[in-house]
Amino acid sequence: MADSIRWFDTVDSTNTRLMNDKADLPDKTVYAARFQTAGRGQKGNRWESRAGENLTFSLLLKPEAVSAVEQFILSQIVALGLVDYLAAEGVSATIKWPNDIYAGDRKICGTLIEPTLSEGRVAAAVAGIGLNLNQQAFDPSLPNPTSLTLQTGKAYDIREELPKLLACIFCYYDRVGSVYARNGFDALYLERLYRRGQWHFFEELPASDIPAEHRSGLRVEARILGIDTKARLLLEHRDGTLHAYGFKEIKYLL
Ligand code: BTN
Repeated sequence: MADSIRWFDTVDSTNTRLMNDKADLPDKTVYAARFQTAGRGQKGNRWESRAGENLTFSLLLKPEAVSAVEQFILSQIVALGLVDYLAAEGVSATIKWPNDIYAGDRKICGTLIEPTLSEGRVAAAVAGIGLNLNQQAFDPSLPNPTSLTLQTGKAYDIREELPKLLACIFCYYDRVGSVYARNGFDALYLERLYRRGQWHFFEELPASDIPAEHRSGLRVEARILGIDTKARLLLEHRDGTLHAYGFKEIKYLL
């Protein structure tokens, strides 16, 4: 179980708050909010979630033995736990590398993992999770959102669901120091990877912080072979060549 879950009615961002407080808090502390006024997403985006309808929370991880080069294992743990939780709720989900969870071709959950590195190891990481549970209508600017309720037709109590989801994540986290974890998580992660092995179109992006509207994208047809040792996405192009892409270097075309 989580050492503690602190529920906020309203907070700016559970990630921001937990990042500020993390020095004095133990491993597995959870900050959860009914509503975030400044929820943060990937790539500087905002994370919007209707008050009281979804899970918006952050989990503090202070692993004993994860080196800086191995930090992707924390993303794997969170993603695998989310997929297991959704499977238990009757939804077969996949992991859209590096950190989204999809039900079919729709995004049901986003994660924002913010590590603090010290002396070559992960001293702490704040894993922020936004899982759509009950929301049925979304901002039209979001390309492909969904929620658990849209998938199953059921309604969910956010306070009852959070401990269930945490238990699924801790199932993996509690094994992180073991030999099994080092050898086993890669295979499990690959099995659950969204669009693995199928031919799809992607857009290559320049590896820089150039705003999206100024990028000159290059459309490529490729298939995902896996993840390399630097946690990059490995793609095979139609001409048979292999390419590895970092987070800001490739975009899925949906
Ligand atoms: C993304 O897909 O862009 C990542 C979304 C992460 C959202 C969660 S909600 C709880 C936590 N607090 C935040 O401000 N962000 C994360």
